[in-house]
Parts: sequence; C-alpha cells; structure tokens
Amino acid sequence: MSLSPLIWVLHGPNLNRLGQREPEIYGSATLDQINQKVSQRGQVLGVQTDFFQTNHEGAMIEKIHQAPAAGVRFIVINPAAFTHTSVAIRDALASVSIPFVEVHLSNVHRREPFRHQSYFSDLAEAVICGLGPAGYVSALEFAAERIAITRG
Ligand code: DQA
Repeated sequence: MSLSPLIWVLHGPNLNRLGQREPEIYGSATLDQINQKVSQRGQVLGVQTDFFQTNHEGAMIEKIHQAPAAGVRFIVINPAAFTHTSVAIRDALASVSIPFVEVHLSNVHRREPFRHQSYFSDLAEAVICGLGPAGYVSALEFAAERIAITRG
C-alpha cells in the first residue's frame, strides 16, 4: 500500500487572525475552519494535507527547507504580506524545487498598488486570488490533479 501524496498548506503572517481580522476584506471564516475544509477535500481527493502558519519570515523559510525531506509533493502557500516583500521566501521555494500555488483570499489587484507586486507569481504553477477560502480548496484540487498526472 502506498502512502497518499503529501501537500503542505502554508499560511503567512496575520492569517492566524482570520475571523476577526478585517472581515469585510477576508470574510468571517477562521483559519481552523479553512484548514478543516481543505483537509476534508483532501480526504476525498486521496491526498494528505498538513498545515502551518507563522508570523515569522525565518520560520517560513525553515519550514520550506524541510519540505523535500518530508516528501512533500506540492505546496499551497498564502505568503500574506510576505508576498510583497520577501525575496528570501521566494528563494526558499526556488531552492526546494517543489511546485506551488500562490493563494490570496482577497483580490489583491483590486487593492492598494503595493499589493499588486508579488515575489512569487512568476515561480508559481498558478495564482488564485479573490475567491476567499474557496481559493485554498481550488488550489488543492489543482495540486491533486497535477500529482495524479505526473504519476502517470
Ligand atoms: C493576502 C493579501 C495580502 O496583501 C495581505 O498582506 C494578507 C493577505 C490575502 O490572502 O488576501 O495578509 O495574502
């Protein structure tokens, strides 16, 4: 029996405040509720999901460095504010060569100009923004399908 493929879902700074944080922009769902939905979808799709949130750039980098040894096949990441600032997290993702989808709850292109710039989008397999929590589920579905295709 082979283990189901592992997908990591990584959340950047302030996403632990979802549910209380600017609900008019980010909605009312908490991070736990979002993770639970993604996990349930993963069970249906036959993939294993693991979740991580940090408010620290270095912690995110070190987590990403652990992905190859953990056997991670795909990463779903909402880098949050680090999207617009972090060459270091970009470089971490490039260094592990694991395909990833960049997710944002809000439509960043409809917001302040500084949110239109991403250090991740040109490396990402796909970018999803503005779908709210459903964006994470869509990213997981995409990842599961990609994994199935590359398994042949
Ligand atoms: C965000 C958008 C970012 O600009 C912001 O800094 C966040 C959340 C989103 O999910 O919409 O923290 O990534």
